Amino acid sequence: MAKVLVTGGTGYIGSHTVVELQNEGFEVIIIDNLSNSNIDVLNGIEKITGVRPAFENIDCVDYVSMDKMFEKYNDIDAIIHFAASKAVGESVEKPLLYYRNNLVSLINMLQLMPIHKVKNFVFSSSCTVYGQPDILPVTESAPIKPALSPYGNTKQIGEEIIRDTIHANPSAYNSIILRYFNPIGAHPSAEIGELPNGVPNNLLPFVTQTAIGIRKQLSVFGDDYNTPDGSCIRDYIHVVDLAKAHVIAVKRMIEEKNSSNVEIFNLGTGRGLSVLEILRTFEKVNNLKLPYKIVGRREGDIEKVWADPTYANEVLGWKATETVEETLRSAWAWEQNLAKRSKEE
Ligand code: UD1
Repeated sequence: MAKVLVTGGTGYIGSHTVVELQNEGFEVIIIDNLSNSNIDVLNGIEKITGVRPAFENIDCVDYVSMDKMFEKYNDIDAIIHFAASKAVGESVEKPLLYYRNNLVSLINMLQLMPIHKVKNFVFSSSCTVYGQPDILPVTESAPIKPALSPYGNTKQIGEEIIRDTIHANPSAYNSIILRYFNPIGAHPSAEIGELPNGVPNNLLPFVTQTAIGIRKQLSVFGDDYNTPDGSCIRDYIHVVDLAKAHVIAVKRMIEEKNSSNVEIFNLGTGRGLSVLEILRTFEKVNNLKLPYKIVGRREGDIEKVWADPTYANEVLGWKATETVEETLRSAWAWEQNLAKRSKEE
């Protein structure tokens, strides 16, 4: 049974990926410092898959602890490195926290991999590296635009660190860089989902928390963009579709099917939806009314971006298949399950 180390494995995308890995028979070791997730996620993963993954509370910034962890689990076949800070606004206020968390952890990982003879590495990147693309849908060869936040910069620099490290030592590594568009939704079991600490920055958790009454009203950031209804457009992808791409990426490297040792793929649906379309569809499929108001633009927002996922479709043999309706239903089912749980406590 192949072993996969998942950093940030109790987080939103991480936990859904652990489920898909375990469903495919992989043995998973999670490391997470629980800075933006909860240990209870392990119960959800166990409920869905029947298997409780190994867990170590380790901060990837801590080189010595990471080294010890690699000694303990000494036959890891691949790493998926999710662990990172991801709040754009916070990164503007605390740039060094972001540079340290996101870059030192990556450097530690790349340094420790050859020492412990681990070759295969999946990196979580973001469509943020494209900024506002000149041509839509955006392909992997689109130019990288100057980052609009320290967070975005850590993804750009992270990609460069991987490229430079592998260029210097090509026989030691295989890597697949995955550029995520906007993951939303939750596992169909509603046992795991997105659970941000504090006030959500991202659209969907804010929507579901408003619908359940935790937040009074949703603010739509701008309706004066150059888009059909004036609100921003994104490529929203079901988190389970996204998770499945990671399993394919890991298999591709383990089976040595990768065509170079740094491959980059867009993970999106190819479909752009506006904020207002998301809100209307959420209301319709879940049969409820969302209190919202239009407010001014949010600083640093991109007007419109959606993926050309052809390369991932053809080369990875992966395609996002979930409808946005089903995805929005799953997000609501998860929020309702959370509310039920907190009542029971
Ligand atoms: C943001 C980051 C992206 C990062 C991702 C992960 C920017 C420009 N991009 O994506 O780099 O990878 O988060 O955390 O910051 N919206 C509202 N009201 C809300 C929240 C959001 O109208 O309360 C709108 C936003 O203006 C945007 C859309 O919803 O048009 C999606 O926002 P969000 O979920 O925050 O994702 P991104 O901004 O696309």
